[in-house]
Amino acid sequence: MTTTIPVTLLFSDGVSRRLQVPCGHNLVESATAAGLNLLTDCSNGQCGTCTAQLVSGEVDMQEYDPSVLPDEDRDTGVVLPCVCHVSAPCAIEFPYDSTEALTEEPAPMPAEVTAIDQVASEIVRLELAIGETVVFEPGQYVRIHPRGTEVVRSYSMANVPGTDRLEFYIRIVPGGAFSSWLDAAKVGDMVDISAPHGTFFLRHENRPRLFVAGGTGLAPFLSMLRAVAADPATQQPRTTVVIGARTHGHLIAMDELEQLRTSLPGVAIHLAVEQGDGPPAHRGYPTDLIAQLHLDADTRVYLCGPPPMVEAGRSAAESIGLPRKEVLCERFT
Ligand SMILES: Cc1cc2nc3c(=O)[nH]c(=O)nc-3n(C[C@H](O)[C@H](O)[C@H](O)COP(=O)(O)OP(=O)(O)OC[C@H]3O[C@@H](n4cnc5c(N)ncnc54)[C@H](O)[C@@H]3O)c2cc1C
Ligand code: FES
Repeated sequence: MTTTIPVTLLFSDGVSRRLQVPCGHNLVESATAAGLNLLTDCSNGQCGTCTAQLVSGEVDMQEYDPSVLPDEDRDTGVVLPCVCHVSAPCAIEFPYDSTEALTEEPAPMPAEVTAIDQVASEIVRLELAIGETVVFEPGQYVRIHPRGTEVVRSYSMANVPGTDRLEFYIRIVPGGAFSSWLDAAKVGDMVDISAPHGTFFLRHENRPRLFVAGGTGLAPFLSMLRAVAADPATQQPRTTVVIGARTHGHLIAMDELEQLRTSLPGVAIHLAVEQGDGPPAHRGYPTDLIAQLHLDADTRVYLCGPPPMVEAGRSAAESIGLPRKEVLCERFT
């Protein structure tokens, strides 16, 4: 007879669920079998989307990318449930409400490509028309599946919620499967998109914000800033935006950001460029600037971009006294 092990899943709305998991089974698969869809993306320890906190007991974690889960986080009980196997009783806390896990994944939505424009070096703006209004939180992402391919990749919306058009900024990765599809795609092509996902969304709280973006990691922040601008009645906290790019030619949406800066009180924008000539900007990484910004001790930090940038940002935030566990991260793996 297979031994089963009690596992308690705790959600941020206070709801808990207890599962009996056969010894050695994968945690996410066992939760799915019990009717709970835990948040995942890559399902093999490469993206950090599933990140959760082990509160008691232990789990066996299989191979994962250490840039997504550094040893210092693992030592404090942070786990990647997609690569966790259950071998002893444990309790795991998830940073989202139980309702997110209990809702069944809706059927994919068909979408038509309405624009593909190269807007900066190696960066394409993709616009999709959906037959219905898409509701999401600014900062969330969808999975896009081009029809006739096996490819499914995640991309963050840059537009405001509640429209039937979605806008994405996508870095072209040489040899990448989605990048190759996008390179040949044309207006009128069809894709299927998942429902919006993710816990990296704008928190409505009265504390200063720091947004740090690397490359196309600016996309979710564009959505957040646009949403804030569309809601002038609500007083927004001070927001510092730091944008990093390889060269000035890799920067996107600069004119619009300047408009947002002038129209939104309390928004400051800093640029960091690694190489090449151009308008004044910090020479180096966006995360270099964190220690120089004189941030308030209660600043909520949001980091989005390549995993090494996100890790550098977490360390920089920690070095000025901002707790790692309060930093919100989206890693574009
Ligand atoms: C939550 C989330 C949101 C995201 N949002 C965005 C976004 O808004 N914008 C954005 O630009 N990206 C975003 N990403 C990243 C995006 O999902 C993709 O990972 C990225 O676009 C690369 O996809 P691809 O299919 O082109 O490359 P992949 O096929 O996944 O390739 C990735 C790497 O593998 C290499 N490779 C591929 N095939 C081979 C091969 N046969 N041999 C050797 N090497 C190979 C490629 O050269 C490349 O370096 C997001 C990721 C996540 C997890
Ligand atoms: S879903 Fe677990 S690390 Fe990607």
